[in-house]
Amino acid sequence: MPTIAQAIRAALLEPDPRAKAFAARAVARDFAAGRLSFVFDVPMPDAPGRPETPVLLPPSQMPKRGKGGSERGRIALWHALAHIEFVAIDLALDMAGRFGAERGPGFVADFLSVAADEAMHFALLARKLRSLGSHYGALPAHSGLWDAARETAHDVAARLAVVPMVLEARGLDVTPATLERVRAAGDENGARILERILDDEIRHVRVGATHFTAICAERGESAENLWKMLVRRHFGGAVKPPFNDSARLSAGLSRDWYAGVA
Ligand SMILES: [Fe+2]
Ligand SMILES: [Fe+2]
Repeated sequence: MPTIAQAIRAALLEPDPRAKAFAARAVARDFAAGRLSFVFDVPMPDAPGRPETPVLLPPSQMPKRGKGGSERGRIALWHALAHIEFVAIDLALDMAGRFGAERGPGFVADFLSVAADEAMHFALLARKLRSLGSHYGALPAHSGLWDAARETAHDVAARLAVVPMVLEARGLDVTPATLERVRAAGDENGARILERILDDEIRHVRVGATHFTAICAERGESAENLWKMLVRRHFGGAVKPPFNDSARLSAGLSRDWYAGVA
């Protein structure tokens, strides 16, 4: 029987986006069906496999998206979202593969199901781009999305504090406005994709917050204090309002925490 670590590592190293999305969903399915042994015999790679395009640029060098209503602006929006979901597949796989041995099968099952969701989100957005006559890789993309993984590779609590509880939570804040803009422009299909993503992301943040709280309890630390300390130490940017308080609350994030860091 192949091991869980081998299967996750292979999906992480897969450079082709479509094949990586397929592999992520296959690992989640195979693990749920008992087809992978719970053995961590290979390390996770420092950097995941990725295709030659998109070209990655620092945010300061990214071309302006232009007017939201133009065809070019629309393609740039869906391309940026597709890139976020592509990296999100790797972030979820790495969470499961890197910290699974210490955290156990429930943790691995949770983050493999997140990885499967991200793979579905990526597939929906890649299809959306194709329907607009473009494709993932056609435009440059943000180079910094893997930085958080590198910065927190040494500590599962730091990883949880930054990736689901800051970065994915940020998605909850910004997606409703994008969704409204897309719907107002008459793109109902695009609006439905964003609704689905928003629903799933609430669950992802909740999964992250739940495991973070459990780890803090085991370590005898206050979850609120440890989260604030880890975010200050490992997250470069500011945790910025406006916050989507209701989505954050359904994800299990308390306003006292993030308002204090903002
Ligand atoms: Fe996602
Ligand atoms: Fe997510």
